[in-house]
Amino acid sequence: MDYLKVTGKKNLTGSVKISGAKNAALPLLASTILSSNKINISNLPNVVDINTLLELLEMLGSTYNKSDDFLAIDSTSIDKTKATYDIVKTMRASILVLGPLLARFGHCEVSLPGGCAIGQRPVDLHLKALEQMGANIEIKNGYILATTNGPLQGATIVFDKITVTGTENIVMAAALAQGTTTIINAAKEPEVVQLCEVLRDAGLKIQGIGSDEIIIEGSNQELLPFKDFSIIPDRIEAGTYLCAGAITNSILKIQDIIPEHLEAILSKLEEMGFITVREETSITILPANKIKPVNIVTTEYPGFPTDMQAQFMALATMADGVSIIDEKLFENRFMHVSELIRMGADITLNGTVATIKGTPKQLYGTDVMATDLRASSALVLAALVANQETNIHRIYHLDRGYDRLEEKLTNLGANIVRGKEEQ
Ligand code: EPZ
Repeated sequence: MDYLKVTGKKNLTGSVKISGAKNAALPLLASTILSSNKINISNLPNVVDINTLLELLEMLGSTYNKSDDFLAIDSTSIDKTKATYDIVKTMRASILVLGPLLARFGHCEVSLPGGCAIGQRPVDLHLKALEQMGANIEIKNGYILATTNGPLQGATIVFDKITVTGTENIVMAAALAQGTTTIINAAKEPEVVQLCEVLRDAGLKIQGIGSDEIIIEGSNQELLPFKDFSIIPDRIEAGTYLCAGAITNSILKIQDIIPEHLEAILSKLEEMGFITVREETSITILPANKIKPVNIVTTEYPGFPTDMQAQFMALATMADGVSIIDEKLFENRFMHVSELIRMGADITLNGTVATIKGTPKQLYGTDVMATDLRASSALVLAALVANQETNIHRIYHLDRGYDRLEEKLTNLGANIVRGKEEQ
C-alpha cells in the first residue's frame, strides 16, 4: 500500500487547475445505459472510482476508449444486468446502475453496497421509490433482485430524506418509464443538476431542474439520443485546495471552477477572516490576518457540504478560538478526529458535534491513517502545517476521489512524496 510523506511548514504559491467532479461523472457514466448512441465525454477526472465504474459497465457489455480526461463510451451493447459484489464492494456508487438497468431491461441484480467508514449508508429510499414505480424488489444473498412486468410506471415519489444518489437513480429510472414521474424533496446538488441537463439535452421532457421538485415525462423504454458533454468542475476538490491555501496562509488561485457552486464554502472561509477574489472561472484566496473560529452545520446543497467537513476541521485547528462543527448527514463522519488529535489538535466529540480548540495550535508531524476519502484530505491539509514530517498511510482512500493530488500540491510548492509501505 502507498503512503504520502509530507514535510510541513511550507507556504504554497501559484495556481491549480481543478478536475471534473467525481460525483457528477459517476451518475453520468451510469446514465449512458439509457443512451441510443456512443457518447464523447470530456473533463473526466482521473480517479479510481471512475475506473471502477467503467470496469463495471464494461463487465455489463459497454465498450469505451479513454485517454487522460477524454472518454468515448458506447453502452448500447450492454447485454448483462448483474453488478457483482466484487465490484460493488469497492464502490458503493455502483448502486447508480440499478435505476437505468431496471428501466431499460426490466430486470437486474445489484449487490447491496456495504456500509463504509462514514456510516451504514442504506439504500432503502432508492428501493422504496422503485417499488412505487412498479418494480418488484427482493433482497437475496446480499443482492438486490429487481424486476418489472413491462416498463416502469411513472409515479409521485416523496423522499423521506434528501438523497443525492437516490434522486439520481430515480431520475434515470423515470427517464425510460411509461408516464410522468414527480420527485418531491429531490436533491439539488450541482451534480444532480448536470445529470438532469444531460438527459434534457438528450430530448427528455424534464422540469424543475435544480429545484426540490423534478417532473419527468418518461420515454416508455425508448433509448435517448445523448449529446456529447463535459463534466462540471469538482466543487469539493476546489474547496479542498482553498483550504490548503487557507491553512498555509498562502495566496492561491483555484482555476477551471464554477464559483457559484462554492458559495457556502466561500462564506465560511470569509467568516474565518480569509479574503477571496472571485473571477468568472477562478477564485484566489488571500491570507487572513488572524484565523477566526467558525461554527458549521453540514446540510444538503446549497448549505455547507458534509464532504468539506473534515477539511474545515483541519483548518479550525489553526483558528484563534473555539470552533463547533455539527455533522448532520452521516453518523460516523469523524474518523479523522482521532488522527488530528494524534497530531496535537485539541478536539472533543459529543455525539454529532465536534468542538475544536485552536490557538493557532502547533500540529506535530507523525504517522496517521486515512480512513475515508475526505478524512484523508483533511490529514494532508494538517500535514502541510505540521512541523517535521507526517506519513499518511492507506492513501488508496485519497486516490478514489482526488486526481493527481501530490502532483498538484508539489506544483504549488508543497513538500509531498508518495512512498511504498515495506511489505
Ligand atoms: C452522495 O452520497 C455523495 N456520493 C457523497 O460523497 C456525499 O457525502 C453525499 O451524497 C451527501 O452529500 C456520490 O454522489 C457518489 P445520500 P449518497 O443518499 O448519495 C441517508 C464523497 O466523499 N440515506 O445523499 O450515498 C444516508 O444514510 C462521497 O465523494 C438513507 O437513509 O448520500 C445519509 O444519512 C461520500 N436511505 C443521508 O441519507 C437511503 O436510501 C444522505 O445520503 C439513502 C440515503
